[in-house]
Amino acid sequence: MTSVDIAQGQLDVAARRAEELRLDIAFLRADVTDLGGLADAHFDHVYTGGHVAVWVSDIWRYYAEAARILRRGGLLVVNEYHPFRRIWRPQGDGLAVATPYGERGPFAYHRNDDILRPSPGPLVSYEFHWTIADMINAVLRAGCQLVAVEEYGEHVGDWEGAPTHGLPEFFLIIAVKA
Ligand SMILES: C[S@@+](CC[C@H](N)C(=O)[O-])C[C@H]1O[C@@H](n2cnc3c(N)ncnc32)[C@H](O)[C@@H]1O
Repeated sequence: MTSVDIAQGQLDVAARRAEELRLDIAFLRADVTDLGGLADAHFDHVYTGGHVAVWVSDIWRYYAEAARILRRGGLLVVNEYHPFRRIWRPQGDGLAVATPYGERGPFAYHRNDDILRPSPGPLVSYEFHWTIADMINAVLRAGCQLVAVEEYGEHVGDWEGAPTHGLPEFFLIIAVKA
């Protein structure tokens, strides 16, 4: 098992937890759009997601790299925060559209360094709002066939900043490398 992240700090935390749990995991610092350190067709399964695509400017290269390292017949699982949840801001007791669903960005946000309790601050982050169609098309273009898609979850986190109750929390794609 190999775990990839662009941030060494994240890998260090994960490596400590793996050691505590006695899990045999290799950790690789890399950009998901350039997994040059990993061989073609090497893995049986690739799992990716959990709020990653929003930071990635090229979703097509991202999923193409995920498919490249997967062996033929291997499973690609993409699990992301549901794109339809990203577009809202609170208005009164309800919601107003803050960013139209079809606008991908990049959107620049100025925040403090605590992403779980966002408030205005000096750090600039750039986010990309990929749509459901973008994610599915990128997986198909990467040479995979869809097995299933799911929309699930109903938790609304404090960090979301808008009362998105009633909207699905996650979007899941399961595909097989053709
Ligand atoms: C919200 S965390 C999700 C972590 C993990 N995938 C999970 O499900 O728990 C997002 C992670 O994506 C990483 N990340 C952001 N952009 C990346 C990129 N271009 N390549 C690799 N990792 C990236 C961040 O460093 C961060 O650790």
